[in-house]
Amino acid sequence: MFVKISSMSIIGMESYPVFVEVDISQGLPQFATVGLPDTSVKESRDRIKAAIKNSGYRFPRAHVTVNLAPADIKKEGTAFDLPIAVGILAAEELIKESSTRNCFFMGELSLDGSIKRVNGVLTAAFKAKEMGIAAAFVPEENALEAAMVEGINVHGVKNLTDVVEFLSGRKNIEPLSVNVTEVFQQTRKYDIDYSEIKGQKQALRALEIAAAGGHNVLMIGPPGSGKSMLAKRLPTILPDLSFEEAIEVTKVFSVAGSLNREEMMIATRPFRAPHHTISDAGLVGGGQMPRPGEISLAHLGVLFLDELPEFKRNALEALRQPLEEGTITITRSSVTATFPAKFMLVAAMNPCPCGYFGDRVRTCRCSPQQIRQYQGKISGPLMDRIDLHIEVPSVKYRALSAKEEGESSQTIKNRVNAARNAQKRRFGQNDIICNARMTEKQIKTFCAIDDDSHKLIEMAIEKLGLSARAINRILKVSRTIADLEKKEKVEAAHVAEAIQYRSLDRSLI
Ligand SMILES: Nc1ncnc2c1ncn2[C@@H]1O[C@H](COP(=O)(O)OP(=O)(O)O)[C@@H](O)[C@H]1O
Ligand SMILES: [Mg+2]
Ligand SMILES: [Zn+2]
Repeated sequence: MFVKISSMSIIGMESYPVFVEVDISQGLPQFATVGLPDTSVKESRDRIKAAIKNSGYRFPRAHVTVNLAPADIKKEGTAFDLPIAVGILAAEELIKESSTRNCFFMGELSLDGSIKRVNGVLTAAFKAKEMGIAAAFVPEENALEAAMVEGINVHGVKNLTDVVEFLSGRKNIEPLSVNVTEVFQQTRKYDIDYSEIKGQKQALRALEIAAAGGHNVLMIGPPGSGKSMLAKRLPTILPDLSFEEAIEVTKVFSVAGSLNREEMMIATRPFRAPHHTISDAGLVGGGQMPRPGEISLAHLGVLFLDELPEFKRNALEALRQPLEEGTITITRSSVTATFPAKFMLVAAMNPCPCGYFGDRVRTCRCSPQQIRQYQGKISGPLMDRIDLHIEVPSVKYRALSAKEEGESSQTIKNRVNAARNAQKRRFGQNDIICNARMTEKQIKTFCAIDDDSHKLIEMAIEKLGLSARAINRILKVSRTIADLEKKEKVEAAHVAEAIQYRSLDRSLI
């Protein structure tokens, strides 16, 4: 007997319908698969066979042929286990084929018949809904993800027996019912706040500017000065994610398999802090069937690179394209996948190898040569994407133990939002929505400065040795400072402040 079961293949951020065709005919017992890549076929066959037997069903002693169609769509991974098993049982007439119509199945089988989580069920559910499919059978462990799509019945299933019993009408598995708007409202809160930070007024000011204009930043300061603490809270002052943006972020997490069991939706701006030992694929994405990396998990949020000089140069090099375009394209012999990667970059570093160069209390043990070499490591690939350099000195014990609370993230966010709105009005419907992304031409138009400001910049170039390339960065940051002050024109005071955020253009020593 011949049956056809629907499933989905996830390629990049997209889902493509895949049909599992099963034919069982008389002949020598054999289990042949067509249309699956060689490497995963054998394991898949073994799992399916064992899962069927261990669930108490008979594996057909006949000629079993499984074809995954269409042939030109790349299929990989373990999510086809469940639809193949269902197909075999339907061909054996343990399940009525008619009960599987208008449904799609995804899930990895364990040898004992239980169903394990797979990646991408959210994009799959979106695609299925678009195609008019009525029901989804996905692993219970990540069913909540798919339940976010309204208008399709999502059944979370624990094991193969559950699926058979349900399709035979002997057991009911209620589709998940979720109030998506409510979940969105409940999960869009942060559990950290800038009010927890003592002192660091200047660093906070610089981070507010960064958030207001979408500028990438580098923080320089000794260990324990609070760089990580400051960076982690940056999402709390960025504009709130809209519902559509939250879906976009959640889709990336779903495809990467990075959602927890209870996690339905990512409604806050992500904060990702990969360690400097991370592989290139882990950072930017990769694999035979490309998967998103940290830069995509940081989409619409913050990518924090702590100890920047320790990152491999080619890893940093690979960040250039996404920083420029907001996406990353991964090309493999048989597939090309594009993932979103529009993030704010926050980097941090010590001023020298021992960490205490320039510190008020501890003494630095490094030689000038060592310090120069250390600082030299970060020149190049990323530095011309970073608009602000923020010095984060250690906070005195007295200030740390003070009772007084700092300004709340909400208060800062209100100012950031106002500045962002000014930018929206200025750039209109352009793709450029923040000052950091202005083109050279736009800088000329929107950052016109007076003679005093020109003099300041000239002086900075001569006295501090600022590079000519730093000028555009200074102008963009000046524009943001003016926007925070609700000023139409960029003024000398704005330029003067922006110049202060270029400390690394002159060497620190
Ligand atoms: N300004 C500050 N306000 C409150 N706590 C601070 C501050 N700076 C440092 N700390 C404390 O010191 C710890 C270390 O800070 P951290 O952010 O990890 O420093 P860094 O990343 O610069 O090494 C924090 O977990 C926090 O408890
Ligand atoms: Mg740190
Ligand atoms: Zn040192």
